Amino acid sequence: MSATRIADLHHAERSAGVSATERVRALGTETAFAVAAAARRVQASGRDVALLHIGEPGIPTPPHIVEAGIRALRDGLTGYVAPVGIPELRGAIADAVGARGVPCAAENVVVTSGAKPLMLYTLLALVDAGDEVLVPDPVFPIYESVARLGGARPVPYRVQPGPDGIDVSELAAVIGPRTRLLVLNAPHNPTGALISPSSLDAIAELVLEHDLVVLSDEVYGRLVFSGRHESIASRPGLADRTVLVDSFSKTYAMTGWRLGFAVMPAPLVEHVATLIINNTSCAPPFVQHAGIAALTRSQQCVEDLVARLRGTRDALVRGLGGIDGVRVTEPVAAFYAFPDVSPLLERSGLSVDEAAAVLLERHGVAALAGTGFGAGGDRHLRLSYATAPERIETAVVRIRAWAADLSSLS
Ligand SMILES: Cc1ncc(COP(=O)(O)O)c(C=O)c1O
Repeated sequence: MSATRIADLHHAERSAGVSATERVRALGTETAFAVAAAARRVQASGRDVALLHIGEPGIPTPPHIVEAGIRALRDGLTGYVAPVGIPELRGAIADAVGARGVPCAAENVVVTSGAKPLMLYTLLALVDAGDEVLVPDPVFPIYESVARLGGARPVPYRVQPGPDGIDVSELAAVIGPRTRLLVLNAPHNPTGALISPSSLDAIAELVLEHDLVVLSDEVYGRLVFSGRHESIASRPGLADRTVLVDSFSKTYAMTGWRLGFAVMPAPLVEHVATLIINNTSCAPPFVQHAGIAALTRSQQCVEDLVARLRGTRDALVRGLGGIDGVRVTEPVAAFYAFPDVSPLLERSGLSVDEAAAVLLERHGVAALAGTGFGAGGDRHLRLSYATAPERIETAVVRIRAWAADLSSLS
């Protein structure tokens, strides 16, 4: 937000008598929501926009999942339920996560309204003011934001695109006496990187050696095109110190249903339950029944989604690869490309935020400037390829015209 806009807000709050706290002012945000609003404004002026900013699969929720939710509503499952989730869903999650090699029983599972609240709950439950939290760079911005809210200090470590995105010696170098929590995010938003099995072994050793706890955000864990995603919680001794966060949002195209979960050491569950009681009380029971259908019925819908994403990824990477000034590494998982557009910024003298605004307003492509993902995201764009193949073709044509436009400013 610009300094003028913040000053305007302060002024408006003071005159309305609702001056907000420093705590809430310090919160970060996800720029995707602001770009979505800007894209709607451009669309409202009658122009077509290729929507590559948004982090959702771009297909409807599979019908059998929708039906299970509707059936539960018709069956009158509309009251409060247990804060940590209904037993049938906790059991189904334990089975699914157990099948991935993570030691897990139903009592380790907590069901929430989307994965996002679990970032805050984990921070509040495990990190004290003054502690340090290691976060990826570039970063899904919510980890940093909630760490600051809890009075902790986020410390970045570098993640690069590809099948082995973390340099373990770089990670080891940022561990200090105040380090408490390591946030892992693989597959990684925004680069689509994975952590190789051998790096995961080495990271698990670091965690044990330095007596850390881990928040492992695996919401893209089933959307992998090459290599393998494994959870750090599958490594010996790590399930006892890991909060594994996952979600129905991306895997089953259920972003708006708001259904996520965590697998955590049993003693932590009651503390997180207290946080849930202080916040949402529980996730809606009919949504949880949709979740049971998602996990226990055919997984063909997930395979179809991965196949579709592989196709759109290939088309986008191929298209971007032919554009002068855009450097892209093939993402191996999730559904984002994270091209480096430094040459275009140098030629045009624009910042990446300005360049992304030009891309939307003059060329009709909504993308996120990498600066929304921390310092390591500067000079990059995040493009979601979770959209129809023909929209990828349209976007590539427009991005090529944008690149030529920026180059001509030199
Ligand atoms: C890395 C990461 N974690 C968590 C989430 C939030 O997932 P949910 O919709 O389940 O809250 C997102 C959404 O974009 C994400 O990219």
